[in-house]
Amino acid sequence: MGSRLRIPYDLIGSRETGAVAIVEVPEGIDPTEVAEEIRRRHPHVRSVLLKAGSREGDYRIRPLKLLAGSEQTEVIHKEHGYRIKLDPRVVYFSPRESSERQMIADLVRDGERILVMFAGVGPYAIAIAVRKEVEIVGIEINPIAVRYFQENVRLNKVGYKVFPIEGDVSFVTPAMYGKFDRVIMPLPKGAYQFIHHALRSLKKGQGIIHFYYWGGENAFSMATSLFNEKAHSMGLSATPLSMRRVSSYAPRVYKIRIDFLVRPASLT
Ligand SMILES: C[S@@+](CC[C@H](N)C(=O)[O-])C[C@H]1O[C@@H](n2cnc3c(N)ncnc32)[C@H](O)[C@@H]1O
Repeated sequence: MGSRLRIPYDLIGSRETGAVAIVEVPEGIDPTEVAEEIRRRHPHVRSVLLKAGSREGDYRIRPLKLLAGSEQTEVIHKEHGYRIKLDPRVVYFSPRESSERQMIADLVRDGERILVMFAGVGPYAIAIAVRKEVEIVGIEINPIAVRYFQENVRLNKVGYKVFPIEGDVSFVTPAMYGKFDRVIMPLPKGAYQFIHHALRSLKKGQGIIHFYYWGGENAFSMATSLFNEKAHSMGLSATPLSMRRVSSYAPRVYKIRIDFLVRPASLT
């Protein structure tokens, strides 16, 4: 493959149970050759999938084209001592975010009640639950992702502390307002539309919200003012505890996370 060896690809799965490779091939390079090389290097790769567009729709799924190998693209991914079953052709999942999940899990304290909005196949919920004594509710709108989430709860034996719910955050959350210590909002391109639900979900208007956002060089200031505006309109104050660039989508376009400490404005 020569210089093509440097073409980046993601592996989802494991050596023991098989994996899929997801690759983006620049124009002028033969994708079939790239697929063959990946399979030569990683004999446990059963299928090679080509990125055929950007993530789209509410479910944030990327169109993927089978380049080589099996049509059966369901795998069990292993990271940090837990397993996540999924098919990348029908649900969102990114193996690149495993350290992000660990960072959040590090921040959680035993005894917390946590709401994971936009929960997908459950990687945040499971990353936390395998390490901490907590109660977690995860809400996800894609029914196939919810089925995997339920299966992943069973696979990792955390059924007594993780509770997947199928539905739209807008409709499901109001029944749970006031019940959580921490809310995680991993939907960079749309979480800002759900800030009021996250704020209302906190116990007595107090807690931590992990807010993801997507934008250019001004992403931090945009995200902070969107969040603060909503908090102030509800009589709450939001103090950023930390801010980080999680990844970059394109030159000068970033996925960021801000962790807000929320309190009633009267207490600050
Ligand atoms: C960026 S993905 C993140 C999934 C998961 N948290 C992860 O890290 O793998 C966002 C997820 O939110 C779900 N979603 C989008 N809008 C939603 C809504 N209004 N209510 C519930 N889930 C939603 C999508 O189906 C998708 O699985």
